Amino acid sequence: MTDAAKVSVDGKDFDYPVMSGTVGPDVVDIRKFYAQTGDFTYDPGFTSTASCQSKLTYIDGDEGVLLHRGYPIGELAENSSFMEVAYLLLNGELPEKGELAQFEHTISRHTMVHEQLATFFRGFRRDAHPMAILCGVVGALSAFYHDSTDIHDPVQRTIASHRLIAKMPTIAAMAYKYSVGQPFLYPDNSLSYTGNFLRMTFGVPAEPYEVNPAVEKAMDRIFILHADHEQNASTSTVRLAGSSGANPFACMAAGIACLWGPAHGGANEAALNMLREIGTPERIPEFIARAKDKNDPFRLMGFGHRVYKNYDPRATVMQKTVREVFDALKVNDPLFDTALRLEELALSDEYFIEKKLFPNVDFYSGVILSAIGFPTSMFTVLFALARTVGWVAQWNEMITDPDQKIGRPRQLYTGPTQRSYVPVDQR
Ligand code: CMC
Repeated sequence: MTDAAKVSVDGKDFDYPVMSGTVGPDVVDIRKFYAQTGDFTYDPGFTSTASCQSKLTYIDGDEGVLLHRGYPIGELAENSSFMEVAYLLLNGELPEKGELAQFEHTISRHTMVHEQLATFFRGFRRDAHPMAILCGVVGALSAFYHDSTDIHDPVQRTIASHRLIAKMPTIAAMAYKYSVGQPFLYPDNSLSYTGNFLRMTFGVPAEPYEVNPAVEKAMDRIFILHADHEQNASTSTVRLAGSSGANPFACMAAGIACLWGPAHGGANEAALNMLREIGTPERIPEFIARAKDKNDPFRLMGFGHRVYKNYDPRATVMQKTVREVFDALKVNDPLFDTALRLEELALSDEYFIEKKLFPNVDFYSGVILSAIGFPTSMFTVLFALARTVGWVAQWNEMITDPDQKIGRPRQLYTGPTQRSYVPVDQR
């Protein structure tokens, strides 16, 4: 470990402090770099840039490790609940029994949405993608909950955080109900967070809905696996939007918009569509060849990661959960066999070995969600529902960080230098 990094610019040396976290790479503090050297650093895609300090989540991409507040994701997925993980991410420690009960009670008291919000949905076409609806409706929450938009008031920040976590399942279920033309169901707070979401999604007013405990457990685990993931694209978007002082509902809408892209949360929908297109294992080599072809934009969806250069630990849990859900629902989707074979062939292919491309969280999730009954268009919505916990926790951490400033990257300008305007009749 070094105390300072030396940078030489135009023959002059400059020293920059090196900061150490509790674990993981040190960072060179270059905040004074521009003021001292007159130069910027260049890092499109932030491949070498730590944008903030955080105590929430740690990833060791080479070893395939993911920790939330120090706890390995595998242990949390096996033993914990989504509400417990939400408490952990928000508060820093696992709750005691009474604290968890109180937190669950508080969240359940915010599950309803303003009645006027239902009319908002009706402005969308019935065939609107639910992520389009989610972006719009979550952004609109700031128009409904003015009393929790003052970001300088810690009480309002807490209420907004609870509201967002509590209302996302209701809004996600409403987006689904709207697309299938069924009536919205009000929340039932006698159910768990996840059970309530399943009922609002798959229940109908005409009949009682029995929550299948195995499906509830699997769904809750899927939520845990998506709860937070360090400074990924959507989380960084939430932080950047929040750095200007925007209200939390607007920031979450920004995060949802970013998550939608197929390189990020949209990959779960794209991965299942890809498996369907492949169909049977015999066609896999054709698709692997396409993924390796530099002239073909096709990529294996659900494969590869910016940080993981090893198996994504979330994919390990996800693969196990597929079998549990199939057993519980007594189904067997042949696409799972195609996925397993695709993984096997890709992991023994020189291209994927050399580039360290492994299955990520999105590779197996679609098979499970499809077995549970979700259409592919809902997959990224479920990701957004769970990631709201991470976004909210990261947003709170940012607001209270004394180093926080408005996020304002600079650029390497490559356009024309100054020139004079020429009137249109003289051009
Ligand atoms: N299939 C084929 N080739 C790939 C793939 C893939 N899925 N992923 C990366 N590569 C190749 C890529 O072509 C590049 O090759 P070269 O060095 O010869 O140009 C090399 O591997 C590095 O890829 P990159 O795009 O420079 O890496 P990145 O860190 O910028 O991108 C990624 C990471 C996740 C966007 C990318 O791996 C990808 O597009 N994967 C498919 C989409 C996906 O599954 N996304 C979900 C990510 S996990 C959940 C989440 O974050 O939401």
